[in-house]
Amino acid sequence: MSKHRVSRRQFLNYTLTGVGGFMAAGMLMPMIRFAIDPVLEAEAGGDFHATKEKVSELTSEPTRVDFKFEQKDAWYTSDVTHTAWVYKDKDGKIVALSPVCKHLGCTVSWNGNKDFPNQFYCPCHGGRYEKTGKNIPGTPPTAPLDTYPTKVKDGFLYLGKPEPNKIVK
Ligand code: FES
Repeated sequence: MSKHRVSRRQFLNYTLTGVGGFMAAGMLMPMIRFAIDPVLEAEAGGDFHATKEKVSELTSEPTRVDFKFEQKDAWYTSDVTHTAWVYKDKDGKIVALSPVCKHLGCTVSWNGNKDFPNQFYCPCHGGRYEKTGKNIPGTPPTAPLDTYPTKVKDGFLYLGKPEPNKIVK
């Protein structure tokens, strides 16, 4: 007879442990999935949001474009409004800049100060940027304004998530 023979008691222990573990996993998995599912879920609706801006109406002058979308933050969904300053460059390429100042996050506006025409101006601490979003040396911001990736669908402008400015060299 083999030395490794499993006793009846051991067999029962192994079987009960296996069945118990299987049942526990079956009960815990849905609970764990329910708890973390929204965090793992891919962002709904793709990365681009529709705006009401017709691309054919864009000019070389930056225009303020406000756009609304539903934002999912794990378990919470809310409607948010974001803004972009949008224009066409000399090659007709659409440029969409984030209005969030790179100093402390205030909102910049085009021609926001008559003393600094054709610049983006931040009223909080006098930050200034060129039309490309490039921060003007000697003013508080230390980086250029972020840009939105752009897409055109049915003649309307769609904007993605702001990313570091690639226009400014
Ligand atoms: S937050 Fe814009 S200059 Fe300070």
